[in-house]
Amino acid sequence: MAAKIISGTQVAAEIREEIKQETAVLKEKSGVVPGLVTILVGQNAASVSYVTAKGKTAKELGFFSIQDDQPENLAEEALLALIDKYNKDPKIHGILVQLPLPKHINETKVLYAIDPNKDVDAFHPVNVGKLVIGEANFYPCTPYGIQQLLVRSGIKTDGAEVVVVGRSNIVGKPIANMMLQKAKGANSTVTVCHTATKDMAFHTKRADILIVAAGRPKAITADMVKEGVVIIDVGVNRIGMTPEGKAKLVGDVDFEGVKEKAAAITPVPGGVGPMTITMLMLNTLKAAKVVANIA
Ligand code: GUN
Repeated sequence: MAAKIISGTQVAAEIREEIKQETAVLKEKSGVVPGLVTILVGQNAASVSYVTAKGKTAKELGFFSIQDDQPENLAEEALLALIDKYNKDPKIHGILVQLPLPKHINETKVLYAIDPNKDVDAFHPVNVGKLVIGEANFYPCTPYGIQQLLVRSGIKTDGAEVVVVGRSNIVGKPIANMMLQKAKGANSTVTVCHTATKDMAFHTKRADILIVAAGRPKAITADMVKEGVVIIDVGVNRIGMTPEGKAKLVGDVDFEGVKEKAAAITPVPGGVGPMTITMLMLNTLKAAKVVANIA
């Protein structure tokens, strides 16, 4: 039987509608408008397109939004001063510094400088630690999006064997920690595979839910999964050229190969991707609600 397609585009649209309504209510009750600043250093093409999409979505939802573009040669001290300015700005509830940063800037130092209460990426070590002990203020956007896709698609996570492929700080580590919490949309048995894993297929074949953030096409093929698995493909790989001269976007999973075996799968594009920006907006709304003293 062909797998059910889990549409991130559709779930993201649902959540955005909820955010839009909540934003209007927040504005009416308290006068607080969620404010998001995105800081972009340099003009990396992918980063420009991400930041533009974030600003556009923020405006569509009724947020106050600033895109603060800075030159590639911006000094680290100047970036830290800029972050300090936004930390103190009462109109700003969420601060996002687009990564990667130019080589001369220490990324860790920058992430430490963001007020944890405005850290809507949830990359600050305080927020990373809070997530691990089950006390999170914010969840990082991609893992949060993955969890919402599972919950809103009615996929049972309680007691499920969840296998995560990839151990990045942005996806693998946080989603593994989230799925293992004793909480709704979690409470799973979690295995994390990575580049030093001896027998990847041994682990992936046991998965009820397989979350793949490996960073390469066809990292997961049909022979590596069991019948009825739910697959979340986080990969974004640009390969080859279409006749129109555009690169083709594919995930980390051999979609065509696994689709007859899986019970459900996220497509690329249109799966996890649209969820990430949406969860950034939800985090910004959450931060604004705390300031407005509205739960
Ligand atoms: N670069 C790629 N993804 C992200 C993200 O989620 N947040 C930030 N700040 N930078 C990124």
